[in-house]
Amino acid sequence: MTKEQKLENIHKKWFEKCECRLKKTAKQPVPGDGNAEAEIVFIGEAPGRSEDEQGRPFVGSAGKFLAEMLSIINLKREDIYITNIVKYRPPNNRDPLPEEKSACREWLLEELKTISPKVIIFLGRHAMNNFFPDLQISQAHGKLLIKSFAGISTKYFFPLYHPAAALYDGSMREVLIEDFKKIPKVLKEIEKHQVK
Ligand code: URA
Repeated sequence: MTKEQKLENIHKKWFEKCECRLKKTAKQPVPGDGNAEAEIVFIGEAPGRSEDEQGRPFVGSAGKFLAEMLSIINLKREDIYITNIVKYRPPNNRDPLPEEKSACREWLLEELKTISPKVIIFLGRHAMNNFFPDLQISQAHGKLLIKSFAGISTKYFFPLYHPAAALYDGSMREVLIEDFKKIPKVLKEIEKHQVK
């Protein structure tokens, strides 16, 4: 079975099995999307209005900004895989609650285990704190983190500010773009690490 087929099965299974209570208010689930063979997986927070309507992650204004930044480093959306820690839209885009994050956690871990990317890039503090609860995004953004987690083979993580937060904040936007430009170097660094 290809990774793509495995991911399809994972999503189908969790559409039924996921017990997240946001299912009651969301229009539909928003599973991860993109290249199953990707070297990079991006993890955001939760779907917003456009994502809830279309059933695909990062298709609204944050997604457009993300696509712009990808093009700066010569990547397209088709080159990467993108998902969220929570697969259903929280009402009025409020922050996802701890129990909503844990209800979707296994689904996310199965995506990561299947793709086994070189690096996992966190978009914002919610995604980062899901794996590194004690870190502050203001301190950790743009720095490569190395840690092993049970069940996933990837041990390289790169936190960034969330594109939605940076979209209308000039200085955060500049920092995010500068951090984004480090991604090709980060991938090379990881390769060097792996051959050692
Ligand atoms: N913000 C997120 O964190 N995820 C999306 O899918 C869209 C906006």
